[in-house]
Amino acid sequence: MRNKINIALPKGRLGEKAYDIFEKIGCGCPEIHEGGRKLVFEDEENGVCYFWVKPSDVAVYVERGAADIGVVGKDILLEQPYDVFELLDLGMGKCRMAVAGVKGERPDSEHTLRVATKFPNIAREYYRGKSREIDIIELHGSIEIAPVLKMSDVIVDIVETGVTLRENNLEVLEEIVKISARLIANKASYKFKNERIREICGRVAELCETGKQEGKL
Ligand code: PRP
Repeated sequence: MRNKINIALPKGRLGEKAYDIFEKIGCGCPEIHEGGRKLVFEDEENGVCYFWVKPSDVAVYVERGAADIGVVGKDILLEQPYDVFELLDLGMGKCRMAVAGVKGERPDSEHTLRVATKFPNIAREYYRGKSREIDIIELHGSIEIAPVLKMSDVIVDIVETGVTLRENNLEVLEEIVKISARLIANKASYKFKNERIREICGRVAELCETGKQEGKL
């Protein structure tokens, strides 16, 4: 009998795009389109069960084995090492991790740099590489406000369209790393449900490749 696969999807646009891919490769669960507040959707016929979770929690569900596979931004995997397999770069959810500051202003290189961020480990690692002394101000959202209010000199954050920076009079000063969505797997699941996971991964890879060629991702 075919193994049922539990899939953790990040709530939001990225998760919806990822679900479309799973649906196209025959892992659909029509009930998911009904919307509402339900978080778990199972389709016995296709042998899949989806969970909508907070994007930053996907890797936790996969690491703990509650989900066999999941879709997560590379930013999350860089910020904290999870004991999971990274199977595939989905080539979607593309953005970059960058240092940004108030437009036209350059931080004083003599003083400790005050860095506001949701990604303290990525920021620490980046500035360690530059031997720059920093003071991390950890925030959980709306990071762009910190330099505007002079609470920080710069931010280290995700930039996708650049609209949030622009509308808050900020600009990118340095790019740290390019980010995209990854398909990850629980290590034990990968061993015990290997055939099914590899089959899903292969078909997702094929579809992503076609999407890239057609410029859809
Ligand atoms: C992210 C990021 C920026 C914004 C960038 O925030 O922290 O604020 O997206 O996107 P843009 O370049 O397309 O404007 P998110 O939407 O995750 O919300 P948050 O601030 O609550 O974390």
